Amino acid sequence: MFDAELEEDRLRALENEYCSFGDTVHYVDRPPIFTGCDGSYMFDRDGTPYLDLQMWYSAVNFGYRNERLNNAVKRQLDTLPQVASQYLHREKIELAAMIAQDAERKFGRKGRVHFNVGGAQAIEDSLKLVRNHTGGKSLMFAFEGGYHGRTLGASAITSSYRYRRRYGHFGERAQFIEFPYHFRGPKGMSKEEYGELCVAKFARLFETEYNGVWDPKVGQAEYAAFYVEPIQGTGGYVIPPMNFFTGLKKVLDDHGILLVVDEIQMGFFRTGKMWSIEHFGVQPDVLVFGKAFTNGLNPLSGLWAREEMITPQKFPAGSTHSTFNSNPMGTGVALEAMRMMAETDYESMVKAKGAKFLDGIRWLQSRHKQIGDVDGLGLALRIEVCKAEDSFTPDKAFVDKMVDIGLAGDLEYKGQKRGLVLDIGGYYKNVITLAPSLHISEGEIDEAIELLDQLFVRVAKQG
Ligand SMILES: Cc1ncc(COP(=O)(O)O)c(C=O)c1O
Repeated sequence: MFDAELEEDRLRALENEYCSFGDTVHYVDRPPIFTGCDGSYMFDRDGTPYLDLQMWYSAVNFGYRNERLNNAVKRQLDTLPQVASQYLHREKIELAAMIAQDAERKFGRKGRVHFNVGGAQAIEDSLKLVRNHTGGKSLMFAFEGGYHGRTLGASAITSSYRYRRRYGHFGERAQFIEFPYHFRGPKGMSKEEYGELCVAKFARLFETEYNGVWDPKVGQAEYAAFYVEPIQGTGGYVIPPMNFFTGLKKVLDDHGILLVVDEIQMGFFRTGKMWSIEHFGVQPDVLVFGKAFTNGLNPLSGLWAREEMITPQKFPAGSTHSTFNSNPMGTGVALEAMRMMAETDYESMVKAKGAKFLDGIRWLQSRHKQIGDVDGLGLALRIEVCKAEDSFTPDKAFVDKMVDIGLAGDLEYKGQKRGLVLDIGGYYKNVITLAPSLHISEGEIDEAIELLDQLFVRVAKQG
């Protein structure tokens, strides 16, 4: 007879012996082996549903096995699944046009779209674009707490030294600038005041040549671009004050520095707008996207850049060519996803669901002293877990226990077994970063709050 437990042990032993761990996160000691998924749920081999509140780091915004998008994959598979990137196919062209036309309406600038596979690879492409446009300048600004991927170039502009430590430097690392993370900012300051302070500290770098970034005699900065996540993702879903980016952009404009917006995690309506930068009223020079572009069905990523930077004369054919760039399976499903986004009022939907979810986590905060901070923009929400004594000192151990219990799949909802899939981020790895399906139902939001409540109670009891 087939023994599912023995089969799982066999797979784990093989993984232990033959799989590199370098291409995974292995955040928990014994990651579950899932066997199915649907909508907001993953299923284990016993059929236990796990409510997923992270959706593959926000790559599956439109729900698991989304019928419309899965059908697009099947259609593409049956028509034109493969074509070398030296030739053209309709899906790629229409997809690029749709994104560029949308960007032109929103940012008032003409531009072009460039594809790759994976977020970090698109970041690499953006670095080439920026360097090329600025005459080879290789220095960048980026934020403390920022995350842009783990390829060589991307990890140089990602704040954590952990991702560089073993490998040395392959190019200059970014200069990391303070992000207005209000909960952990100076006391007695409003969110807006703290945003203004961060902008002022950044602007101070340009006051005199002795601050190391600016030559006033020729009016030139040593730095080419500032890489930003409008809402920090891996950094813990940190939402800056709404006046922050206008202030920052003015400093950049005054000193000829480009703004590169990384929408890889927060794009595609995660925050209630197609691009999260739209909340802040500034225009990017380059915008990078990935993850939910194909609802996680194909690792397609890309970037939009304004015309002057990316004309074929300036950034010629072959600049970053790779075999699978703009592959038809990816562009086929991304085109369908873009059409779905154009036809559906995700803006109102995400706003309403996000407001309900935020109410729920505020209620949790009123019940559990371990919750130091909650916040949310659309369906990008955060719960910062702290020591109960002061509701401030980060408590990673507490949140790790929550993750383990959620993944053990023995919570209960309305008399049925449940698991909960959570992801942890934040500067102190103590923030539950919530990125549920944008299609999550009201009932599922109630379930999420109830299961989170159970987790807080259980871990607090364990002591
Ligand atoms: C903001 C941001 N940029 C870049 C990346 C890297 O993307 P990928 O993991 O597809 O290389 C990520 C991934 O989490 C991200 O969240």
